[in-house]
Amino acid sequence: MVQDNSELSGLQQEAKTRHNIAEAITRMFAAEDDGLKHALEAAKRAGLPEIQISPIQGKLLQLMAMACNAQKILEIGSLGGYSGIWLARALPANGHFITLEINPKHAELVYNAFAYAGVGDRTEVRVGNALDLLPQLEHEAPFDLIFIDADKPPYPQYLDWALRLSRPGSIIVADNCIRSGKGFEETQDEGMTGIVEYNKRIASDPRLISLDLAMDDDYTDGFAISVVRQ
Ligand code: DHB
Ligand code: MG
Repeated sequence: MVQDNSELSGLQQEAKTRHNIAEAITRMFAAEDDGLKHALEAAKRAGLPEIQISPIQGKLLQLMAMACNAQKILEIGSLGGYSGIWLARALPANGHFITLEINPKHAELVYNAFAYAGVGDRTEVRVGNALDLLPQLEHEAPFDLIFIDADKPPYPQYLDWALRLSRPGSIIVADNCIRSGKGFEETQDEGMTGIVEYNKRIASDPRLISLDLAMDDDYTDGFAISVVRQ
């Protein structure tokens, strides 16, 4: 019992250390400005779920966009525009960011969040089911970075489209690919089969080099990152 307690307090201490590290990294490298904070507040007021990426994930997206010299970025699933602001800010003034959103009310919110954050000039919110909108993007391809963060069952289909709409050197990122480890287990759960399939595909597709990174707030979920090989 005593041993259990000390083991528990050791785990609690580790969790606290990880939390403190994430806070320190956020303060030093990924502090939110008024534009990002405004987007979060507006989304919360409108009743959107608070499931946006972390500031560290936002900064990583920005860093990857700059690493591939992104001029055109595509996002599948806008939520409240928070990740979109991080990504759009990585673009040059003549760059273009397109985000696909199924919910017209959310799209309006995102449009306003982009304007407030000062990226209205280089952003576009397209409303509809992503699987209907994606075929219309072929003449606007290739995109240098594609970020997938929408409904989970069609993730493999989104990957097909990301591959079609990219170029060698493009970066494809998908959120929520770890899910406390469920992203790597055989499952019948309809919410998870798409993610499990996504991981298998990016791990074995010869066109990609990929890595999943546990890097959300508590290191139980995170991005799947793939680069389209030259
Ligand atoms: C859910 C979706 C997300 O994109 C996320 O980052 C977390 C949770 C969800 O649908 O529950
Ligand atoms: Mg997500």
